[in-house]
Amino acid sequence: MSKHILIVDDEEMIRELLSSALEMEAYECHTASNVDEALTLLGTIPVDLVISDIMMRGRSGVDLLRELKLIDKDIAVLMITGLSDMNTALECVHLGADDYITKPFGINRVILTVKNLMERRSLTLEKKQYQASLEFKVQEQTAQIRNTMNELSHAYDSTLTALVKALDAREKEVGSHSERVMNYAVLLGEKMGVAGKELQELAKGALLHDIGKIGISDNILLKPGPLDEREWLEMRRHPEVGYAILSEIDFLKGPADMILSHHERFDGSGYPKRLKGDQIPLSSRIFTLVDTLDAMTSDRPYRNALPFARMTAEIITCKGSQFDPEITDLFTSIPRQLWEECAGKRLMD
Ligand SMILES: [Fe+2]
Ligand SMILES: [Fe+2]
Repeated sequence: MSKHILIVDDEEMIRELLSSALEMEAYECHTASNVDEALTLLGTIPVDLVISDIMMRGRSGVDLLRELKLIDKDIAVLMITGLSDMNTALECVHLGADDYITKPFGINRVILTVKNLMERRSLTLEKKQYQASLEFKVQEQTAQIRNTMNELSHAYDSTLTALVKALDAREKEVGSHSERVMNYAVLLGEKMGVAGKELQELAKGALLHDIGKIGISDNILLKPGPLDEREWLEMRRHPEVGYAILSEIDFLKGPADMILSHHERFDGSGYPKRLKGDQIPLSSRIFTLVDTLDAMTSDRPYRNALPFARMTAEIITCKGSQFDPEITDLFTSIPRQLWEECAGKRLMD
């Protein structure tokens, strides 16, 4: 594609001389006899290089240069000046002209300078395009990484859900105890003002709360009768086993803390550390209550689900001993219908 040159000079002879010489070099030349004409032309044709006289009738070449730099900083500009006008020529370079030539000039010198400036301009444009494409690539890759991270976190979630379903199935849970307590925990947690990352940790912790039971043998876990002393000790290790498993995994450290304390009781009679009141993480205090809620409202091999009102009464009885009183009060203030929505089932009358 041929390059366009705009020649601005008030002397017709110079315009003719320059344009015929440059057209021989395969440039496409346009001419203007003053600044206003030049600016009009610039609005209609794509110009790569402007050759402009400095001293002209009306506005000067310096004025044109100023306007040019506002229109497009990348247009190459070559100024032509009389010998007596060196200071203005230098001022032009300062204002962004790429080079200047003094009159009288040899035409070969002009052609050589034009070729150099065109070359330089191509390189600048190429570099700009390259940078733009680099930026685009970076943006594209950032978006890809973000997508992958999202997919990964979905994959994590589904892996966890699958794992937990397997655990629930082993304990012959009806439906999914773990998923129900996760929903309940989020409902009660939001009421307590838990939000953002903490709420997510509460949800994950609830989902995985009994993961430590993975290490307990079927003989104990599924034993139909009451457990003896040794079996109880074994059973009571599951919060610590769960903690040991999860605290090794970066994104599950928060849930791991909750799990370690999910069998603590508000009055300090729980396990493993016999923590009391505020010593127990808030998420664990919230979780303990909804775990009990679900256990009581689900059928067990040895008994049927308790009615909702009966369960509520039992929980209120344990206010202050097993459960945080404040959380117990909040629990009773939440309408039954919301719990049923979390459970995805009707709770017994
Ligand atoms: Fe547990
Ligand atoms: Fe549970």
